[in-house]
Amino acid sequence: MRSIVRLLPVVLFCLLTAGLVACRPAAVASVAVLPTTTAPATARPPVVVTASPTSAPTAAPTVAPSPTATSAPQPTAASTPAPSPTPNRDIPCSQRFADDGLLTVVTLTYGLSRDYVPRGLVPLDAYFSGDVTLGYPTELRHLVIGPLAAMIADMQAAGLHPFIISGYRSYSAQAIARQKWVEQEPERVNILSAPPGFSEHQLGTVVDFGSPELPEIVGQEDIEFHTYFYKTSEGLWLADNAHRYGFTLSYPFEATEVTGFFYEPWHYRYVGVEMATQLYNDETSLTEHQLATEPPPCIPDTP
Ligand code: DAL
Ligand code: ZN
Repeated sequence: MRSIVRLLPVVLFCLLTAGLVACRPAAVASVAVLPTTTAPATARPPVVVTASPTSAPTAAPTVAPSPTATSAPQPTAASTPAPSPTPNRDIPCSQRFADDGLLTVVTLTYGLSRDYVPRGLVPLDAYFSGDVTLGYPTELRHLVIGPLAAMIADMQAAGLHPFIISGYRSYSAQAIARQKWVEQEPERVNILSAPPGFSEHQLGTVVDFGSPELPEIVGQEDIEFHTYFYKTSEGLWLADNAHRYGFTLSYPFEATEVTGFFYEPWHYRYVGVEMATQLYNDETSLTEHQLATEPPPCIPDTP
């Protein structure tokens, strides 16, 4: 099976490094993120590579809250120059403005201009209750709100309690997030956090989800991001269902060598139902698909 074949080099690398280097969780923007354990697994199918959780996952709660708030503020326009209506493949990536479509290629090779701000950013607290936003001042593009609200409502109806830890991150916000990782995990920062200009979060269509089950599973009260998100009820549900709402897992465990990032079972990008379903059925990631099927979107800058 394709996923097992692709998993083998990573498993071997994990074993060779005794789980000290590549078999640790990835994390992103916020505080209280202390990756400490090994043993990620693919979210789909749930193949456990190694397994010594510090505690067993809790059962899914049975409460079924009603869907969240529905007020509708107007999206903000980008405050920066209007994006080019044509593909800008012949310019340096550092000058690239995305076309505000859903399928902009963003990888460690093909970045975005520091001045690119997506159109239509809106604050999540206008649409979701505090138990979903945690009170964070998170923004996303308006076109993501409907599918995200539908997905979260269905998760809640199933007794789950997803929350959103991170959404849009500007170039400068990504620089701050990255710097935290430079300080906390200097040896692994490159597989945990994108340099500014190279994060999908700058597109405004990416959500980092959290689960109330994670602290017990990891055995750490203040944990926010951890590979064991894939074991939580919310992580399992997302792995099986997010594509039906148009969301795709950007950094699957088995795609590390192509994406350059370690497994991030919490990081979902909205690409529309058609593309998300195609990727799900093909058991591949957006980055793998795009690098294999599309021409370079811009000229990489020399360091
Ligand atoms: N953690 C992901 C790769 C980011 O920094 O965008
Ligand atoms: Zn993320």
